[in-house]
Order: sequence, then structure tokens, then C-alpha cells
Amino acid sequence: PPSVPERIEEKRRAALLGGGQGRIDAQHKRGKLTARERILLLLDPDSFDEYDMFVEHRCSDFGMDSSKNKYPGDSVVTGRGRINGRLAYVFSQDFTVFGGSLSGAHAQKICKVMDQAAMVGAPVIGLNDSGGARIQEGVESLAGYADIFLRNVLCSGVVPQISLIMGPCAGGAVYSPALTDFTFMVKDTSYLFITGPDVVKSVTNEDVTQEQLGGAKTHTTVSGVAHRAFENDIDALLNLREFFNYLPLSNRDPAPVCECHDPSDRLVPELDTVVPTESTKAYDMLDIIHSIADEREFFEIMPSYARNIVVGFARMNGRTVGIVGNQPKVASGCLDINSSVKGARFVRFCDAFNIPLITFVDVPGFLPGTAQEYGGIIRHGAKLLFAFAEATVPKITVITRKGAVQIIFRGKEADAEAEYVDKFANPFPAAMRGFVDDIIQPSTTRLRICHDLDVLASKTQSSPWKKHANIPL
Ligand code: COA
Repeated sequence: PPSVPERIEEKRRAALLGGGQGRIDAQHKRGKLTARERILLLLDPDSFDEYDMFVEHRCSDFGMDSSKNKYPGDSVVTGRGRINGRLAYVFSQDFTVFGGSLSGAHAQKICKVMDQAAMVGAPVIGLNDSGGARIQEGVESLAGYADIFLRNVLCSGVVPQISLIMGPCAGGAVYSPALTDFTFMVKDTSYLFITGPDVVKSVTNEDVTQEQLGGAKTHTTVSGVAHRAFENDIDALLNLREFFNYLPLSNRDPAPVCECHDPSDRLVPELDTVVPTESTKAYDMLDIIHSIADEREFFEIMPSYARNIVVGFARMNGRTVGIVGNQPKVASGCLDINSSVKGARFVRFCDAFNIPLITFVDVPGFLPGTAQEYGGIIRHGAKLLFAFAEATVPKITVITRKGAVQIIFRGKEADAEAEYVDKFANPFPAAMRGFVDDIIQPSTTRLRICHDLDVLASKTQSSPWKKHANIPL
């Protein structure tokens, strides 16, 4: 019989092959990488320490206990590694083993890395590619989801959690990514839905394809379930590495500071002319954001959803900041239900993880109409107010322009409107009352923000004791 070291080696070799070469080839044919290839691309070279490579599923029904149905490591690869030198915990579901389906053992492996991440204080990255609950295990598998959901919730606000959907993710399985902070998808090869096209057809008689129902385009433009879509596995993993650099490791960690080669006192002369003085003329808030950010870099979150608000991460003098801006180019930058929810969720993430907020304001108000009122704009708009008011991180607001004058003076004489503009549509009334701290030359915006962030780095602000707040949902 083989010696123990030989048996260890044999199991390791088997684990590395997952469901076998045939299934690896099938995975590649679909344009997808394997679970292990994905981890290698995501993490720094030679930094992956794998856990639980010898774990096997424990199901003995339906012939599952035969040796040909056992795969060392089962249908998920887990462990920890580094991204640009910083620690991350990762699990990568292996579609080549029972379609990446979630057995009790698979769930336990995921829970182990989540528990360690929470204790050590490092983000959890999930690479999802799974046919859902392991059919042969039934309730054992469903209980595994419950264990993961609980950890998603306990980790929320403690360590950043990121999901990258790289294949199927359906039924109850969708709720783990939905509980995490960010959900990214790969175009054409990933989908997320509660019930697939066949069930939809039988219940509502709707004809819909998998892609229409839950593909990357649907979730990044229509539903707002996913935060970004990427071209393919490689593009997604490289973007994830870049995104990771913006994040603190945990809520105990200050926002990361990178070396910055862009002078913090750089003047931005184009800002003196980018905003048209007429309040009805549009401009692109992204131009402003890019022009003030370090190296003009901005990692936008939800770029194709609720585009009347722009949110994302940038750096100012090397320090990560969250940027929120009204977008005059889309619906005049009006706030509506979707943009309120998008903004609120982003602000809460930044606040939970010590990321200062820079807000560029140019908003004519909330979008009028029955669709918005019936849809609950009062309740949803309140989320945005709640999130900003609750946030104790440094908050810097730049008002770039302002509207609303036409509404009050509709049908009244021109000189009455002129008087109003003179009185209120300029920075003095707010500045005279101390509602704004200063009126700045636009070209000095970057310099001023960088300077204020330095000062505000030591900001502390405490809230009254509570179990948790009750944000309107
Ligand atoms: N449990 C156990 N095995 C599963 C599984 C699951 N949930 N999902 C997939 N598999 C197995 C398949 O039986 C297949 O094994 P085989 O090649 O030995 O027959 C293998 O994984 C690959 O799946 P396959 O169906 O060939 O891949 P596909 O790309 O054509 O389809 C899915 C992918 C996810 C759409 C399809 O596998 C599916 O519908 N799975 C079941 C989904 C489900 O009902 N989950 C439980 C409820 S949450």
C-alpha cells in the first residue's frame, strides 16, 4: 500500500485537478477559467496559502460515497493570499466538481475563511460559479447557505466583502453575494436570478432568456443588483485587484494611503470654465471628478445604473476617498429613487470603512411625478439623508452650481426673477450665514480638498449608544 507521504501527494494531485481534465477543458471551452486559475490571477504570485484541500463531501446517498464521486477539496478552493502585498481571504467555487454545487463540506470551507477574515481583519473575496445547492445532500446543503448568510451579515461593516459572479448563481445562492458589499459580474458567462427562465415561464408565462433575466447587462443597468460588469474572467480579476487597492482591510484599519506622484497643490485651470453659468446647461460631473483626482483615476461604482448620481473611489494625495456627485448630464442631476438608494449604500460603505467622503453638489431637487411618489421617493430619498447624516468620516462638500430658480418665478416678471437670482442664486447668502465655509476659486479645488483631508484625518465624532440605527428600508 502507498505510504502516508505518497497518499498525501496523490490527494494533492487529485485536488489540483478538480473534476478532471475533461471538465477543465469544458470550462475553458465556455470561455471560463478554472477555480484555481482564477485564484492565481487574482493573488500575487506565490502568495496563495490553501486551506482544506483534503476535505471531502460526506454524503452517502445516491451512490455519492463511491470513491469516483469523491474529490479532495470538494467543489470549492479556499485560502488566503495577498493582493499587491495586502492580505485577502478568498473562496473560488469549482464548477468542474458537481457543477460547483454547495455541499455541507463546501459551505464549511467557506465559513472557515470568513471566520478567519473577520478575526484577522481582512477582506473576503468570493468567486462564484455554482449550480446551487448540492441536490444529493438536500437539507444539509440548504443549512450550509444559512451558515454563510449569517457570516455575511456578521462580517458586514467589519471586513469588506466582494463577490465576483463568474458563472451560474441562482436560487437561494444569490443571497450571499447580495449580502456582500460589492457584486461584480462577467459579461456573457455569468447570471444571477432567483428562479430561472423555465420557472418564470411556468408561473408568469413570460418568455425570457437567461441573459435577459439575470445577465450582467440586466443587473448593471436595470436592477442595480450588480455594481460593475467586466468583459471576461481575466479583465474582471485584474479590475478586482485594482479595486482592492482602494479598500481598507477592515473597519479597524484606516483607509489605505498610496504613494502619490500627483502634486497635492496642483491647480486645475479647466475647472474655472467647465461649469456653465446658466443653470439649465449641462456638463459632465465626471470631468470634474477626473480632473481633481490623483492621476485622474476614478473607480466608478454602478456606472450604468441611476446615472443621475455618480459614485466611486479615487485618491487625493494618495489617500482613498469616496466621491459622490450629482450628474447634470443625466435627468439634470435630479435625485430619484434609484439614485438615492445607490448613493446611500455607497455612503454607508465608506462610513463603515473609514473612507472620507467628497461630495459634488449640483442638484435641482428630487424628480417630480406620480411614478416617483407612488414608488416611495419619500422613503427612499430618506435613505440618502440618513446615510449622510449618520456618517462620521470626514465629509467635504463642493457646491458647483445650483438650480430651482425657474420654478418659483414661473410666469412672474423678469425683474422679480432677476432680483431672486441676485439674492439667492449666488454663493453669498449661504456664505454670509455660515452654511458654506468658504467660496473658492474652482481651479484650487484639488489643493483645498487635499489640505482639508490632511486636517480632518484626526477627526473623531461619536454617536449616541444604540444597538443599531433604523434606516428607512
Ligand atoms: N447539485 C449536484 N450536481 C450539480 C448541481 C447541483 N446543484 N448543479 C450542477 N450539477 C452537476 C450536473 O449534474 C453536471 O454533472 P454531470 O456532468 O455529471 O451530469 C455538472 O454539475 C455540470 O452541470 P451541467 O448541468 O452539465 O452544466 P450546465 O452549464 O449545462 O448547467 C446549471 C449549469 C447550473 C444551469 C445546471 O447545472 C443546473 O440547472 N443545476 C441545478 C440548479 C439547481 O436546481 N440548484 C439547486 C437549487 S438552489
